[in-house]
Amino acid sequence: MQWGMKNRLSKIIKPKTGRTVMLAVDHGYFLGPTTGLENFREAVKPLMPYIDTLFLTRGMLRTCVEPQIGVPIMLRASGGTSILSKELLHEGITLAMEDAIRMNAVGIGYSIMVGADFERDTILDLSKLVDDAERFGLIVMAVTAVGKDMAKDARYLSLACRMAAEHGAHMVKTYYCENFEKVVDTCPVPIVMAGGKKIPELDSLTMAYNAIQAGAVGVDMGRNIFQSENPVAMIQAVRAVVHENRTPKEALDLFNELKKKGASESKKKDEKPVDDSAKV
Ligand code: 5RP
Repeated sequence: MQWGMKNRLSKIIKPKTGRTVMLAVDHGYFLGPTTGLENFREAVKPLMPYIDTLFLTRGMLRTCVEPQIGVPIMLRASGGTSILSKELLHEGITLAMEDAIRMNAVGIGYSIMVGADFERDTILDLSKLVDDAERFGLIVMAVTAVGKDMAKDARYLSLACRMAAEHGAHMVKTYYCENFEKVVDTCPVPIVMAGGKKIPELDSLTMAYNAIQAGAVGVDMGRNIFQSENPVAMIQAVRAVVHENRTPKEALDLFNELKKKGASESKKKDEKPVDDSAKV
């Protein structure tokens, strides 16, 4: 791997722990204003101090994120179909490398549809993107998308992750499953875990913990953060699991503690100042 790529990868995966907490807020590229991200700016801004990399589309980066942001950016480079489409899994390339470089991204993310009708198109696009990205020293993260009828098990996910690596992806984002060790052990590039549908906080922290213990280098979570009843507390709890090896129970305690603290602070803000104008 060339120097520029190693440098970019070290911005995503923190050398101190060898791990990463990525925040995925790219969902609008096929879901529009999804729950929790309706007001993108307000949802994402308070989470910034707690993340290692932000994964989003170029449109939201340009319009809703300050350029002074001190967080590395990874841009989604696939899309073209919506949740309403009969061909939801038929995505293509939606981003040029030059634009990614102009926006100072460290890398790009691309979904591959292994086992779906459009598998071949997405795998060939991934290879093309890797060629292009290598020219500019950008990191390519393959996302192993899973269609409604596709199994999310170790057999399928290890096939998809390994194929992504074989076609040149520098890292892979995939879902958690039983026997996740098998997925990690058969994939030669770093794996980050996607969060999936919103589930209770303890379940989501347990899933992240199990993925990390099985060898994932981190998480790239979305809905389980921004749809949490307290996203700022949740991202810190996830951080504790990823960077400090805290157990799910310890992380949940932290979540509850931060939630309580946050609630009492906002209560203080809401209390009206005493009107002492009569004294003057
Ligand atoms: C779909 C994606 C999503 O857009 C997103 O990044 C998923 O994050 P989460 O599942 O944690 O909400 O990659 O394949």
